[in-house]
Amino acid sequence: MLSYHSHPMDPAGPIRIDVPTPSRTYSVTIGDGVLDGVGRVLDDLGTPERRFIVSSPLVWRLHGPQLARAVTAAEPILVPDGERFKQLATVARIYDALVRFNADRAATLVTFGGGVIGDMAGFAAATYLRGIALVHVPTTLLAQVDSAIGGKVGVNHPLGKNLIGSFYQPHAVVIDPLVLGTLPRREFRAGLYEVIKYGMTSSAALFDCVARERKAIFARSSLALTPIIADSCRIKAAVVSADEREAGPRRILNFGHTAGHAIESVTKYRRFRHGEAVGYGMLVAADLARARGALAEGDRQALADVISSLGPLPPITDLSSAQIREAMQHDKKMVAGRLHFVLPTAIGATTIVDDVTEQEIGAALKRVGFAK
Ligand SMILES: NC(=O)c1ccc[n+]([C@@H]2O[C@H](COP(=O)([O-])OP(=O)(O)OC[C@H]3O[C@@H](n4cnc5c(N)ncnc54)[C@H](O)[C@@H]3O)[C@@H](O)[C@H]2O)c1
Ligand SMILES: [Zn+2]
Repeated sequence: MLSYHSHPMDPAGPIRIDVPTPSRTYSVTIGDGVLDGVGRVLDDLGTPERRFIVSSPLVWRLHGPQLARAVTAAEPILVPDGERFKQLATVARIYDALVRFNADRAATLVTFGGGVIGDMAGFAAATYLRGIALVHVPTTLLAQVDSAIGGKVGVNHPLGKNLIGSFYQPHAVVIDPLVLGTLPRREFRAGLYEVIKYGMTSSAALFDCVARERKAIFARSSLALTPIIADSCRIKAAVVSADEREAGPRRILNFGHTAGHAIESVTKYRRFRHGEAVGYGMLVAADLARARGALAEGDRQALADVISSLGPLPPITDLSSAQIREAMQHDKKMVAGRLHFVLPTAIGATTIVDDVTEQEIGAALKRVGFAK
């Protein structure tokens, strides 16, 4: 079971969340300025002495000096971090650098960047010498609330996203909300849709907090950000602990992702940030649930309101619902030819169904705004 220790009385102290999984138990440390203590976290863990940092040129320019003061490491291994660089060729550059440094099993790899860096460098750590110690220091909101926890690592194949990868849990995750100060607003919002997802699936309190604290959250106030990051991490940690390899409970975190992935795929991953597509995906799932009588109209409206309060999503009126439906048929979440759909039943509660019809999906897509 999930256990965590938080210090609500001591806003200066970091929050620690333990993530017990069958393969490893690790801790997530969250707090202002914890970046300065990464070296200490590594020492306390007893992770191997030789430390290598993998980052991107941009993240390193913005925040590298701070991390470099905190961790004694070799020259950082800098690789590009756009989605189109999330491929084996970039992982090969990480291997090349590790070989050149003569990195052996007594090495720790620290990832320092968004989800792309974490997934790629995590995959390198999982496979170099059949696995070296891995610590994630995520720098985007999406990576802090989602990709750094749970052990999914990997890269894209030219024919599909995340087709190559593995499950490899980190030894620790260190989250400093202060690094989000430099994140472009669009990237920041993209992460917030995932926070809303956690609220919808698992916590009405978190959902209400995002709605209520929106202004402070957008101002990147760590007083407002730290609790929503921590709650998101707790939810992901609990789900991952119960289901490391996504056989059962972990599937609820796919809420909004069935239509979301389809929207990303028909627009070739160019128009939407992942979180934005998930924003639409959640609206589709909620509309479908309401049409079935599984979700109250007031709850559907509350979701639509909080999503629109974050700002406009990229337009969809030129995308046909038939196209999206077709793309949904290729979803990885098809089990024995049936599409498993996560439907909300209230704010903070979901159900998984496998009897959603094409007609229902088509109607929901149109009501959300997709073309005929
Ligand atoms: N492993 C998982 O469980 C999991 C879960 C969700 C998403 N993902 C993956 O995560 C990736 C998306 O991650 P992302 O949204 O973090 O994108 P990203 O890593 O591409 O980062 C987005 C942009 O933000 C910049 N950036 C990062 N930190 C910054 C900072 N502090 N200040 C300013 N700029 C900064 C990056 O340079 C990049 O340009 C996708 O490839 C997705 O598949 C993985
Ligand atoms: Zn997602």
